[in-house]
Amino acid sequence: MTVQFSPAAGRDRFVGSAVSRVDGPAKVTGLAKYAGEFAAPDLAYGVVVSSAIAKGSIRSIDASVAEAVPGVIKVITHENRPATSDNPEDYQDAVAPPGAPFQALATDRIVFSGQPVALVVAEDFETARYAASLVRVDYGVVAPRTDLAAQAPESYDPPMKRAGIKPPPEPWGDAETAFDAAEIRVNGQYRMADEHHNPMEPHASTVVVEKDGTYTVYDKIQGVSNTHDYIASAFGLKPEQVRVLNPYLGGGFGSGLRPQYQLFLAMLAAKDLGRSVRVTLTRDQMWSFTYRSEALQTVSLGADRSGKLTALKHDAVQGTSSYEDYQEVVVNWSGVLYDCDNVKLTYSLAKLDTPTPGDMRAPGAVTGVYAIETAMDELAYATGQDPIQLRLKNYTESDPTEEKPFGSKALKECFREGAERFGWSRRNPQPRSMREGRELVGWGMATGIWESMMMQSSAHAVLTADGRLEVGNQTGDIGTGTYTILTQIAADTLGLPLDHVTTKLGDTQLAKAPVAGGSWTAASSGTAVMKACRDIAEQAFKLARGMDNSPLANVDFERVVFSNGRIELAGDPAKSVALTDVLKATGTAKLEATGEAAPDKDFAKEYEAYTHSAIFVEVKIDEELGQVRCTRVVSAIAAGKILNLKTARSQILGGIVMGVGSALHEESMLDHRIGRFMNHNLGEYHVPVNADIHDIDVIFVDEEDKANPLGVKGLGEIGIVGVAAAISNAVFHATGKRIRHLPITPDKIL
Ligand code: MOS
Repeated sequence: MTVQFSPAAGRDRFVGSAVSRVDGPAKVTGLAKYAGEFAAPDLAYGVVVSSAIAKGSIRSIDASVAEAVPGVIKVITHENRPATSDNPEDYQDAVAPPGAPFQALATDRIVFSGQPVALVVAEDFETARYAASLVRVDYGVVAPRTDLAAQAPESYDPPMKRAGIKPPPEPWGDAETAFDAAEIRVNGQYRMADEHHNPMEPHASTVVVEKDGTYTVYDKIQGVSNTHDYIASAFGLKPEQVRVLNPYLGGGFGSGLRPQYQLFLAMLAAKDLGRSVRVTLTRDQMWSFTYRSEALQTVSLGADRSGKLTALKHDAVQGTSSYEDYQEVVVNWSGVLYDCDNVKLTYSLAKLDTPTPGDMRAPGAVTGVYAIETAMDELAYATGQDPIQLRLKNYTESDPTEEKPFGSKALKECFREGAERFGWSRRNPQPRSMREGRELVGWGMATGIWESMMMQSSAHAVLTADGRLEVGNQTGDIGTGTYTILTQIAADTLGLPLDHVTTKLGDTQLAKAPVAGGSWTAASSGTAVMKACRDIAEQAFKLARGMDNSPLANVDFERVVFSNGRIELAGDPAKSVALTDVLKATGTAKLEATGEAAPDKDFAKEYEAYTHSAIFVEVKIDEELGQVRCTRVVSAIAAGKILNLKTARSQILGGIVMGVGSALHEESMLDHRIGRFMNHNLGEYHVPVNADIHDIDVIFVDEEDKANPLGVKGLGEIGIVGVAAAISNAVFHATGKRIRHLPITPDKIL
């Protein structure tokens, strides 16, 4: 059956409004349970012993003292570890980069600081933690390489490309010659810091051994399908022997995309001991896997006196681990954003003795857009242009890297509406020209961009005779509001009140869906839910039409609407029938359907899909203290249809706060002598707190897009992109000092 989103059906009643989170009460009352909170009668507790060195080997490991502690069940090390698959490919999860994924306790080799070297399993957590402190390890130390700048000369073009990650486009024109010949040139090196995700919920896994020998796994993951398939292949289990659940996530930001070592260890111990095991990582262990690797970037822009770009070069070197080629899209954005005849974009990796970096909110875009949008501000000053005018002068309605038009691009509206709300026209462009009391005031702006993606996804829906609807699939609500928007879409499609709809997520027994990431969940799972509900609508309509004396007997499906729990003839509510009556009268206990959603190939052949934003920022700077306060942010977002004004705004607010963090606070500091992140706690790794965040204003501009039937583009990531550049540009405007190294901490201002 073809299912289309017929405009005659489905009045927008909840979609597009500011519905509060349907999972809000469960979250604030503690009813919502997280991976490390599920219990089992025979639960044992595993605590990880972390490597004290970054590189080398374990010469010997002595667990005898730990094992002698009453209550300790077992200490698992590389010496007594039960066998798992010996095929490295079996450890490659759904979003793994090319390479050989890390396997905990597989050998005596140490490849990163904090690497797990033992798991202590005990009857209770306190005993396990105490015993873990008694495990003695003798290491053979090798000097680690963790300094990206030192390793950059040996950077390489990764031989295998990561799935879904576009390598830089081939250069076009002759950027070198054009740059050398340009009337106006700017050229800068940009650095940022390594960053860690630091969700509130640390990584945890609870593996429950069921009586029938199957495993129920509660895992901190952004999509249970990834954990499920990883466990089945790594441990050689049949798919039906493992069920994975993760109904709630206490923040992911990308850190929960891949299965992490605590899952592997919990499963290893549970299978070995034949009893349930939970492993929860500590806050400091959150620095021992996945991070946003800093990049060394060079941007060279050539332009004529009017500000028209004549040459654009953007190069980035990024760190990866010794065992995987993690890749993200860093430099391509520069080519997508601006019209220029001579462009060269290059990206390479340098091997470091750290854990493999990973996706962190808008991976690659946060990094690359920081550099290009700071360079564009430098060009604005070099050519004496207003930064918005410069961007309009080089505006492009099509994607130069693919030579295809954008399906939609309301960035001009973002500039206009954002500038107006911010009061940009009152800006005196002269650096150091604005002051308030003892503080310098700076106004800066930048553009943000993120790819609008969609993944193959399915959803199942069941309508029962009592008029209640249940929809669901495997995807995770990573705090973004997925439960809520799916409930809204389902309710609108079948014309039901919100409280008649229950959405279930994060369970491998539900319909197949990918991990929640890349801002693709609204488009993917939203479309799947809509299609499943449309299918039920058609089934219900057929039943209604066939009822005795049906008021809809001679009506086509296209002419009815689903509203207030009824199927009614559009414009003639007198001709209607309640859904509950349809099911009762026809003796139907329930109607069910599965909806399948996939990217629209015809659309993709013709168009490129991106979200855009314009960010305007005010900073106030006390030069004597070196303190930068980000006092005002206006972010205008073009992301297609907004499903929920409240949760959408919250996504952008969160992204901006994280952007303030990357601009001013967040910095994981490596001590290269020992290859270790030293500030591995929230006391020394600074994230913005309430006192750092002031006025934030979010605007959603009108944008119509046809990439998917809902017209949505996704909002989880666009909010952060460009924020650091806007802040950095505001700092220049305030001080006249161009700082090309994030975060802009007091020492760099002084
Ligand atoms: Mo996002 S970094 O794809 O969770």
